[in-house]
Amino acid sequence: MQKLRLGMVGGGMGAFIGAVHRIAARIDDQYELVCGVFSSSAENSRASGLMLGLSPDRVYSSYQELFEKESQLPEDQRAQVISIVTPNHLHYEPARQALESGFHVILDKPMTFSLQEAKDLANAASASGRLFCLTHTYTGYPMVKEARQIVQEGRLGRIRKIYVEYPQGWLSGFEEGSGNKQASWRTNPDQSGAAGAMGDIGTHAFNLAEYVSGLEVTKLCADINIVVEGRKLDDDGAVLLKFANGASGVLMASQVAAGEENNIKIRVYGEKGGLNGSKVMQTASC
Ligand SMILES: NC(=O)c1ccc[n+]([C@@H]2O[C@H](COP(=O)([O-])OP(=O)(O)OC[C@H]3O[C@@H](n4cnc5c(N)ncnc54)[C@H](O)[C@@H]3O)[C@@H](O)[C@H]2O)c1
Repeated sequence: MQKLRLGMVGGGMGAFIGAVHRIAARIDDQYELVCGVFSSSAENSRASGLMLGLSPDRVYSSYQELFEKESQLPEDQRAQVISIVTPNHLHYEPARQALESGFHVILDKPMTFSLQEAKDLANAASASGRLFCLTHTYTGYPMVKEARQIVQEGRLGRIRKIYVEYPQGWLSGFEEGSGNKQASWRTNPDQSGAAGAMGDIGTHAFNLAEYVSGLEVTKLCADINIVVEGRKLDDDGAVLLKFANGASGVLMASQVAAGEENNIKIRVYGEKGGLNGSKVMQTASC
């Protein structure tokens, strides 16, 4: 079997999620990284590509150049799938152009900068006939998949209540003022989008609640806070949720929960039983 030829946009030296995508692609050994543009700086992109063992002529200085040059290569050599792992303001344009150039796309969350961009991208994906995959890391864990299956099999009965929370503590201080690159773009509305903590980690909690329950959120009411003085985007918030079947829920996302790292948790309660982290509980009468 031939491996899928993977190209990458973002994920240069020192970046966070690009390296995770490369590790994930190697786990089942079905992908081969063949090209990339790893930074907005041509020099850093080249250095990252060489470090990853790529041929220098397959390391590009812009995503536009990558799509154009790869499209001109023979069909059995060019990249087939593009993984996009850049900050949020660079999701929509590279994803749309990749689809329009005939590549399948794997995009890390959050989907885009705005709702309108997300809708446009969904249309571009349908029109392209290519696969468009949006990755929310946590749905890949075996226990999360098992939790979803337990709900699907009806073992909890009709779902009534969902609590989901994602506390982090790394933005408890004014990190963006100390040259922390990740903090700088995540707290900058021009690069992160309209949301801070809610876009960065609230989306994971939201996705987990819908994925495990199999239910869509239809209404919400949110209380969003900026806790750290001088910060431009929310770093904390709580959301009341209503699901399509009438169930209600609470979502909490915070990046100022000092001491926490990535403490995502979900609890789901139905008429017959509940899921609490790794525990499945059923009432005695069931
Ligand atoms: N699923 C998860 O758990 C998870 C975790 C972290 C980040 N993310 C998402 O992944 C994305 C990237 O986050 P990160 O933490 O890896 O950020 P990062 O700042 O660590 O890395 C971003 C990378 O993109 C590169 N880049 C910037 N502009 C570019 C351009 N024009 N062309 C090519 N490369 C460019 C940077 O040089 C850097 O290598 C974000 O959208 C974030 O929401 C998801």
